[in-house]
Amino acid sequence: MSDAALPATVADVPTPCLLVDIDKIKRNCQRMLDTARNMGVQLRPHVKTHKTIEGADIATAGTRRKIVVSTLNEAEFFAANGYDDILYGFPISKEKIPRCQRLANQLSEFHILYDSAEAMQWVQDAPLNPGKQWSVILKIDTGYGRAGVLWDSDDVVTVAKAAVDADNVRFRGIYAHCGGSYDCKGVEELKEFGAINTDRVTTVRDKLQSAGIACEIVGTGSTPSCSHPADNMAALTEFHPGTYFFYDNEQVRIGACTLDDVALRVATRVISHKPSKKQLVTNCGHTALSYCGQKEAGDEFCVVQGHPNLRLVRLCQEHGMIQPVTGDIDFDDHPLGTMLYLYPYQSCVTAAHHPVYYVHSGEKIVGMWRPTRGW
Ligand SMILES: Cc1ncc(COP(=O)(O)O)c(C=O)c1O
Repeated sequence: MSDAALPATVADVPTPCLLVDIDKIKRNCQRMLDTARNMGVQLRPHVKTHKTIEGADIATAGTRRKIVVSTLNEAEFFAANGYDDILYGFPISKEKIPRCQRLANQLSEFHILYDSAEAMQWVQDAPLNPGKQWSVILKIDTGYGRAGVLWDSDDVVTVAKAAVDADNVRFRGIYAHCGGSYDCKGVEELKEFGAINTDRVTTVRDKLQSAGIACEIVGTGSTPSCSHPADNMAALTEFHPGTYFFYDNEQVRIGACTLDDVALRVATRVISHKPSKKQLVTNCGHTALSYCGQKEAGDEFCVVQGHPNLRLVRLCQEHGMIQPVTGDIDFDDHPLGTMLYLYPYQSCVTAAHHPVYYVHSGEKIVGMWRPTRGW
């Protein structure tokens, strides 16, 4: 869509759509850049949250260097747009090796994650151009229970050694996502969690050091832990949060941010009244919002901006039903066509449902961003 087709104001956007507040995004990004700089740690923003060049330019303060991606589609998209020093933050799988080979040959720095000696064998068996070496980082699990070698197992040394011993590979260090921070509530718990997680990461670093293996990169960080970092996180070399770019209702509930920091909303319009159920029917179904968070937070998974007594209680593919928590609803207050704004539970998941983001500053629409999609 050309600029001529840009809606003039937020009130003019087609619904449902994703509205993103450029001023809040800039504020969130600057705050995270400052946090990392003040701690002497490199920020490597995860771009999976928005998957846009415009967004990554803000998150990297225009350097176009040092990002994490969650898919090879993202890696290829950012590389094609002048980005370098890209970390593919997902354990390498054999089928993906040929695409990784192309990226490793093309970029000055392309890092891959691995968590087994078997995966290192696939990497070892894949030659790069003369003068090039694979740059690999060992993924460790500090208690989240997802991918990664367990931080307190002897496997960390064995699996790291598999890379150190390979001719065409340069072992760079360790990476832990620390998703367990999502179980915290409030700043104190976040700092406590961050401190324990960092102890585990530095324990692995020291264990590798004792085995003669140096870690140039020691990275960890989720949005909750990096929003309120523990002091000992200064011992790390890299933070790699992503969700802070938009924040969301989940981060508000954790205590990582306030609702005022949340930079994305789904805009929807009332399309029908259902007096028998005291419900407003809107055109925001799960295809525009996602179900994400309904299991965890029930009817509070989504916030209807400016209407604390309204809850989104049911989602169909293209319909979303909103009703009051207590009392009656006055349909005259919400005539057909009324615009409502929903703060989603998890910004990365909701954004992933939208082919275009409507960017606004105050009430004015100032641009449209088109994210990359696919794997
Ligand atoms: C491997 C990895 N690194 C970094 C992040 C960024 O964390 P957050 O979404 O809390 O910002 C994630 C999020 O899922 C992740 O999976």
